[in-house]
Amino acid sequence: MASATILPLDSVAYGGDYNPEQWDAETFERDLELMRAAGVNLVSLGIFSWASLEPTEGTYDLDWLAAIIDRLHAAGISVDLATGTASPPVWMARRYPQSLPVTREGVRLEFGSRQQYSPSSSVYRRASAALAGVLAQRFGDHPGVVMWHVNNEYGCHVSECFGEESRAAFRSWLQDRYQTIEALNEAWGTAFWSQRYADFAEVEPPATMPTLHNPSQLLDWRRFNNHQLLGCLLGEIESIRAHSDRPITTNFMGAFPPLDYVQWAQHLDIVSDDHYPDPARPSGAWDVAWQSDLMRGLGDGRPFLLMEQTTDAVQWRTRNSPKRPGQYELWSLQRVAHGADGILQFQWRQSRRGAETFHGGMVPHAGRAGRTWPAVVGLGETLGRLGPVVGARTEAQVAVLVDWQSNWALQAAIGPATEETDFAGAKAWHRTWWELGYAVDVVGTAADLTGYRVVVVPQIFIEDAELARRLTEFVAQGGQVIVTARSFVVDPTMAAVLGGYLGSLRELLGVGVTDVVAATGTPANDGENVAGYVEEPLTPVHRISTAVRTPGGCDVTGVDVVDEDLARAVRDLTGAAEDGLPVAGGRWAEVLAPAGDPAYDYDSGAAARSRETGVDVLARFTAEGGGADLTGLPAITRASHGSGSAYYVATDLDPVGRAGLATLVAQRGAVAPVLADLPEGVEAQRRGEHLFVLNHGDEQVVVPGVTGLDLTTGEHLDGELTLPARTARVVEPTPASPTSEPASAPLTSALPSR
Ligand code: GLA
Repeated sequence: MASATILPLDSVAYGGDYNPEQWDAETFERDLELMRAAGVNLVSLGIFSWASLEPTEGTYDLDWLAAIIDRLHAAGISVDLATGTASPPVWMARRYPQSLPVTREGVRLEFGSRQQYSPSSSVYRRASAALAGVLAQRFGDHPGVVMWHVNNEYGCHVSECFGEESRAAFRSWLQDRYQTIEALNEAWGTAFWSQRYADFAEVEPPATMPTLHNPSQLLDWRRFNNHQLLGCLLGEIESIRAHSDRPITTNFMGAFPPLDYVQWAQHLDIVSDDHYPDPARPSGAWDVAWQSDLMRGLGDGRPFLLMEQTTDAVQWRTRNSPKRPGQYELWSLQRVAHGADGILQFQWRQSRRGAETFHGGMVPHAGRAGRTWPAVVGLGETLGRLGPVVGARTEAQVAVLVDWQSNWALQAAIGPATEETDFAGAKAWHRTWWELGYAVDVVGTAADLTGYRVVVVPQIFIEDAELARRLTEFVAQGGQVIVTARSFVVDPTMAAVLGGYLGSLRELLGVGVTDVVAATGTPANDGENVAGYVEEPLTPVHRISTAVRTPGGCDVTGVDVVDEDLARAVRDLTGAAEDGLPVAGGRWAEVLAPAGDPAYDYDSGAAARSRETGVDVLARFTAEGGGADLTGLPAITRASHGSGSAYYVATDLDPVGRAGLATLVAQRGAVAPVLADLPEGVEAQRRGEHLFVLNHGDEQVVVPGVTGLDLTTGEHLDGELTLPARTARVVEPTPASPTSEPASAPLTSALPSR
């Protein structure tokens, strides 16, 4: 067996899911050679191996796994050992059919695919925790096992179950939460539609209903499902911890809606992520940035691992575009730039059989022929040179807040507009800052705000008085806050905030929301011939309807920028002329009223229309579009508190408006982009002292102002960097500062050295 020839101790981890049990012994031998050639130093082993590890209930066969781990270790390849619990073997389904998940419609999901377990199944929970314990006992201090990979993508296919055991578990979770049935009745507002319960035994999950569900019940159901899956994770962690102190992860899936990853991340030693951005979309590079910034934020700024991506194409979209030449390495380095200490793929070897036969792999069906293998080897070489980057932090002065509970609540709310996409506000604002070249953190609402200069609060739907207090303190210390429409609308039980939305934020913002206008852009009643809505008026046949105007039928709300500085920012960005700035709102607009005005009457929307809000008005609604009935009312406001400011955006501002406002706020907050004057398509990020320059575009560019040692090529740059299409460089400033040290311990410090 070859001696250890893997990357050095502090190198970026590189490898992928490895499923040797799907192949023969000869292929395994070949894999070891190929892994060495590709610079692989870490593989995730055993993710779907439960049936081989416990072929019959309670009988474990770990010897085959031990042999593989030993051989990998001898070859210098470390193991991220999976607990294998994502897909229970058939014996569980047959002997314990109640372990199978049941859908909202009451359909029991069969064995034959994967993830066919109910998160509440006691059989599943017991067996998965037991398997994790057995594995940890055997391999917990094996020198080749450097970390644990619990389960796989919790909730990816099945995040809720309506089976008997789940329903009982829901009731007991509710009982713990509310203690008394009266408290539940109050929280769920069961006085509405005669939904009052006399006993917890009468309560059921929100399965298929005759019509609209109870939003509070649905929100609690989502909380419960998150809690149940988290319970599965914690059960396995406990079993592992009885035998092993190696770091533990479970792989996340970006801002996966069902699971509150802010909560989950607190239980993990390493945050890891699976990500398959669509190369067919121009926003793919933004997607990489967004998801990486989120993963870094979930780990409080610590480095994370990219646990899965594809080298080429996935197989589960209707059309599966391959990555463009160079994009595999480009997006991988982009993740390192944003804080990844490891780049792993699904999977090492492209499957020969099964549902994922046509999903990309590091070793494709064609083997070393074709374009994947050279790209895999190329990336291995590049990552092998990035040791100095490992462990360093990516610092940002702008934070965008995310809140899973608020996202659930916004989705559970019925109206005024029910076409919200998950985390839409956070994504939109993150994208704005990223496109403008700023470093951004995506963090939970309880994150420490110290060190940021700008905090964006996008659609944080649930009122959070503690967050309001911390934002107020942040602004008092000179911080800039942007709050957007649909924030602080309900309390944690889904009860509407009374006295004007924004509740406890009103004082900081100087405004409250009295009315909302949802412009739908599509007919409310399909097929109805509504004049002026989507169809041409039928004059004179529809004698009355012809005269009716319905601004609600528009996709946008007109917004007029009235603040000179904001107008200048928009003009500088777009080159637009003095008047007619290309700014618009979205399908949502709100009427603001001055906060704390004693004459302001919550019941009288009219009062708000006749008064200024008492804060600076930066933009107003115009007569155009869905906001027509709001003409002249404030669309963007600013309340100043010393050098700090609190902005409110009362519509879904379009990208131009967001970019203009972000630029203005950055100026006032003295925040600078990572590098000034970057050519189109080029992103720059700083990780510790290293500068990453990434050309996402199709043209070769020259980036000025870059000096230092290019780690990727070994070239010395003297004030200028030439970057071909879809390539990236990592530049170390020269002379290297002797005092610069990684801000945190490298994830890969556990890897054996060469
Ligand atoms: C997920 C899973 C993998 C694989 C990939 C395919 O990320 O974790 O097992 O199915 O999707 O894209």
